Amino acid sequence: MKHLLSLEKLPRAEFAPILRDAIVFKRERGRHKTPPLAGKTWALIFSKSSTRTRVSFETGIRELGAGVMFLNANDIQLGRGEPIKDTARVLGRMIHGAVIRTFAQRDVEDFAAFSQIPTINALTDDEHPCQVLTDIFTFEEMRGPIAGKVITFVGDGACNMPASWIFAAAKMGFELRIAAPKAFQPSAGLLQRAGGKIICTEDLKAAAAGADLLYTDVWVSMGKEAEAAERIKILSGYQINAELLKVAKPDALVMHCLPAYRGKEIDEATFEAHADTIFTQAENRLHVQKSILNWAVS
Ligand code: CP
Ligand code: NVA
Repeated sequence: MKHLLSLEKLPRAEFAPILRDAIVFKRERGRHKTPPLAGKTWALIFSKSSTRTRVSFETGIRELGAGVMFLNANDIQLGRGEPIKDTARVLGRMIHGAVIRTFAQRDVEDFAAFSQIPTINALTDDEHPCQVLTDIFTFEEMRGPIAGKVITFVGDGACNMPASWIFAAAKMGFELRIAAPKAFQPSAGLLQRAGGKIICTEDLKAAAAGADLLYTDVWVSMGKEAEAAERIKILSGYQINAELLKVAKPDALVMHCLPAYRGKEIDEATFEAHADTIFTQAENRLHVQKSILNWAVS
């Protein structure tokens, strides 16, 4: 039984086949010969908002031959307090796989353990593995192997996105720099668990110098809305803009997992100048997640 619960837990050897098969899923969209999910039913169980993840998984699951249902966690008994382990044991007897977006990492892990069906983390407070696998795929599609390259993450260095980047770095062999204020840098424990070449600094320009990719995410992640004003104050300045791009490699890519807040983590002109990369990155969620689904059931 395979699950994608985090990049921390995804064995190093599994990255390459998922990324390689995603090339085929992208190239052969609409012409898949033996749909790997034929005759099955999958569910998406989401406790947080989503545009890209929801639509790409619903579309991808259908294109791989399965039926799919979207369950807003608040519309099922889970939202009224039914334990995740009971929800998992019920769904595990009815459906063939689950894609879960929630708060606690522990919940996707419990769901996987109790349901005994393939379970995919579609974002938790700790990680966003499907996004970072897609980001690596997109980088490699545009620039070749990511090994040996310099990736600079700018902004909230303590949320789910940088965490998944951190766990990917050692496994994929790239240097990761995180430019964030002290209060928003990843924990020492997490860095220690990940290993690899990770530099955390408050010095934005030093982090971006010679980078192959500048990456950012929202300053206020889902669930952190009550801290919005304080976060905006502390993170102010940790922005990808033309000034910062001057110190990166001349052909540096700019990526954003989206949704984007112009004038905060990225400025409007830089976002629009790199929109083709950013929306290819969004499209690639579909192709990479089809590869993840195929990997999970094979
Ligand atoms: N990047 C991402 O996961 O987008 P959604 O929140 O819209 O799914
Ligand atoms: N860090 C963001 C990612 C959104 C895709 C959040 O958790 O809201």
